[in-house]
Amino acid sequence: MSDSELTKLESVPFRITDPELIPAERYYDEAFFQLEKEKLWPHVWQMACRLEEIPEVGDYVEYTILDKSVIIVRTKTGVKAFHNACRHRGLRLASGPGNCAKSGFICPFHGWRWNIDGENTFVFGKHVFTPELLDHAEIDLAPCRVEFWAGSAFINFDDNAPSLLDSLGPVAERLNARNADKLKMDWWYGTVLPTNWKIAMEAFQEGYHTMKTHPQLHQLSALGNPFGNDADGLVFNRGLTGKETVGMHIDFLARLSSGMGGMVHDSEVEVLESLRDMEVSDDPLEATMAFYAKAHEEITKDALARGAPMFDIAKVAAEVEFHAVEFMFPHYFLLPMLGAMSSYRIRPLTPETCLFEIWSLVLRPEGEEYETPTGPTILPYNSPDFPEIPRQDYSNLPLQQLGLHAGEFKFMRLSKDTEGMISNYQRLIDGYIAGLDPQRLAKAQNIVNAGFEGPISDIGF
Ligand code: FES
Ligand SMILES: [Fe+2]
Repeated sequence: MSDSELTKLESVPFRITDPELIPAERYYDEAFFQLEKEKLWPHVWQMACRLEEIPEVGDYVEYTILDKSVIIVRTKTGVKAFHNACRHRGLRLASGPGNCAKSGFICPFHGWRWNIDGENTFVFGKHVFTPELLDHAEIDLAPCRVEFWAGSAFINFDDNAPSLLDSLGPVAERLNARNADKLKMDWWYGTVLPTNWKIAMEAFQEGYHTMKTHPQLHQLSALGNPFGNDADGLVFNRGLTGKETVGMHIDFLARLSSGMGGMVHDSEVEVLESLRDMEVSDDPLEATMAFYAKAHEEITKDALARGAPMFDIAKVAAEVEFHAVEFMFPHYFLLPMLGAMSSYRIRPLTPETCLFEIWSLVLRPEGEEYETPTGPTILPYNSPDFPEIPRQDYSNLPLQQLGLHAGEFKFMRLSKDTEGMISNYQRLIDGYIAGLDPQRLAKAQNIVNAGFEGPISDIGF
């Protein structure tokens, strides 16, 4: 790194100097939030909408991030994105979702119009303007950079940022192997959480909290206590018979399904339940391997028989690296398990609030009738209608936000072995705030998008 880059990095306020310590102010300081607004968000790829939200020509949605707003619209020649402002005196033009196939976009102030391709089609009383002011290039809607992956449109306000796929790195291939582009929404929820957006993200970057926050999963987990000094907790050492071991795996996946709503889909639980009586050896390890082999095979078969675009789960499990959570820096992540996935997006609203969305995604047969949600069902964060697992997380996170303000709380102290991702993520944010070279940032992002539970990594700065 050049001296000037180092100087820029050193000038970031509340910078991470020890990768195991995260300064508390990063989660509430107004000036730091402002720096993220100016230096991070305008330069990163952001999952702006699922393409299934806009299936027909003319369908559009509005994506907002802080004070910026973008229209994403399906045209005859593909999906396009425009900055959401009238080119006359700046009104925000569209609030989504909607369809503009017939009317295009009409400004409610003085009635200027645009077709769905963003071309200006009408200026009221043109002759009262200086003609050069009305050049097409000047008054067509301003395009915003947009690229596509995994069934979603991603926008970036920075025309010099590396491409979406270059920024994502290997995570894209890992999820492509699981047909992420063919997933369909099952449901979509949202809530406003009284925490900084990074607090919400970080709750998914480690499994260390499972023991206390999600005890129901911890008890059923095949790994028992992965952080213990001995292996007593391992399912293989619990004195269970082969059949009981299989039962425990099924209970775990079923609890994950009801608790996470979608990470394991109902149709998958049904197949799993049919395996409860499968013949297995009494050796728990052999029983485990036989169970998962059978589960992968049967879920794949069941989905294909229903006409779903299912991948070969066993083959992918054997050949492609598996992470229980896959991150797409900065604010989007997917949780693959069998064929279905949950998906999360967390946007900052203020330094201490964020908009938290969850989708359940499933590989549904092409053309199957389904009422696709057109927006998130917004619930209070403490609503009993949230599935068990997010509900448990939501009960802790606001308390964490409050605790950060306590007098003597200076730093979060991270486990270098299992909470490293939090540090990696946060140090990449410093890289953006410092305005480091975009190629360097993309390279670091490839490392940071590494699944969860990882150690502190060298991200190149
Ligand atoms: S501000 Fe939109 S037409 Fe005038
Ligand atoms: Fe959790």
